Order: sequence, then structure tokens, then C-alpha cells
Amino acid sequence: MGHSIHIAPSILSADFARLADEVSAVERAGADLLHVDVMDGHFVPNLTVGPPIVESLKKVTRLPLDVHLMITNADVFIPEFAEAGADYLTVHVEACPHLHRTVQSIKERGVKAGVTLNPATPLSLLQEILVDVDLLLIMSVNPGFGGQTFIPSVLKKISEARILLDKINSRALLEVDGGVKVDNAREIVAAGATALVSGSAIFSQHDYTATIAAMRAAAETVVQPAPRATVNR
Ligand code: DX5
Ligand code: ZN
Repeated sequence: MGHSIHIAPSILSADFARLADEVSAVERAGADLLHVDVMDGHFVPNLTVGPPIVESLKKVTRLPLDVHLMITNADVFIPEFAEAGADYLTVHVEACPHLHRTVQSIKERGVKAGVTLNPATPLSLLQEILVDVDLLLIMSVNPGFGGQTFIPSVLKKISEARILLDKINSRALLEVDGGVKVDNAREIVAAGATALVSGSAIFSQHDYTATIAAMRAAAETVVQPAPRATVNR
């Protein structure tokens, strides 16, 4: 890592028959995290991968594994994903009625805890848990598939999330997932994001290095505000 903006290629758009090569390629190309989309055909209308793939990926990369659980019964699978080597485990508020318990269960296993919400879910549902999380993921498409279009109204939600995190002096990553590409990276980071998930926009290109560099360059044209003084209110 060591970058102010974290770029997390999503393997959903990689060639699964050559997964280790694809992962090495994005690692060499300058990725900061590896985003792994876990789908159960129930919470979202698609099926992808489970703990065995995470365990195999752990052996072939030094990139932190950013595992996005799009599954209804996250609590049941957290132990297995932790054991498999997930560095971040992110769960959906829509699928976790006892979110505080779920977040504690992730952290108890030494894994960084992330929470996320679908585009139509209000940010206010996460307000009480933000103090406990290492990552807040804002979905900018309806989850289930790669290659969808970024929903522009989500920019406002990103700005609001930035304000909430700053208010509690949180150092959590503010990650955005869905339809992120070189062309919109700047406005997403300007709204306050610090981590960008990108699947199709990276894996559809021949030159991953050039694409990741262009995305980072676009993001880093945003002038970061000076750290705010802490105000008691
Ligand atoms: C969507 C997944 C995303 C997806 C992003 O359900 O959570 O991580 O891979 O793909 P792109 O970048 O193509 O929108
Ligand atoms: Zn994802």
C-alpha cells in the first residue's frame, strides 16, 4: 500500500481460468487491495466464489484480500472466510439484522471489518456502527454483476459518508464499488472516497499498469483538504 488512494481490482471481471496470472498481473500493475466478490444466488442474483478460492488466492498474492460478502447468512461463513485468509470482510446491512454482533465476530477473528449498503439503502442505517468499522463500502451499482453503470446520485451519499467519518475521526477506508473507471475516479475521490473498486474498467484493458496508473493519477488530482482540527460539540 502506501498510497493515499487505494485501488482494488475486482476479480469478478478477471479470466477465472487464469486467476493466479490475473492476480499477479494486477499486483505488478500497482493494485493496493484485491477485491473478491462473494455472491450466493440469493441475496444477489448471481453465484461466484467461496472460502476455498480465498484460501488459494492467499497463497499466490501479497495483496490484502478485500472480501465483499453479498450473501444472506454472513454470520455462518465468517469463521471460514477468516480462516481462509480474508484481510477485510465486508457485510451488507440489508442482510445482517444483528450488524453489531456480526462486526464484532469479524474483528474477534483478527480480520478488518467492513460494512456496506445498496444504492437505495440510507446511510443513516450505518451511523451507529461506523465507530466500530475499518471500512465503509458505498455501492454505486445494484450488486450482482460487473460492468454496470455508476449511479450518479451516489456521489451525494459518498460526501455524506465522508462527513460522518470525519466527525468521529474515523480512519476507516471509504470505498466505492460499481462502475468506477478512469473517467469518473476524480469526482468519486473528490466526494471523499479513499478506495476505489474497479472490475471491468481494469480487466477489459490490455495494459493493467497503464489503466491503474491513469486511475490513480486522475484520483490524485483532487486536492486533499488539510486535516481538520477536532472540535468538541
Ligand atoms: C458488483 C460487485 C463489484 C463488481 C464491480 O456486485 O460488488 O465489485 O465487480 O465491477 P465493475 O467495476 O465492472 O462495475
Ligand atoms: Zn464488490
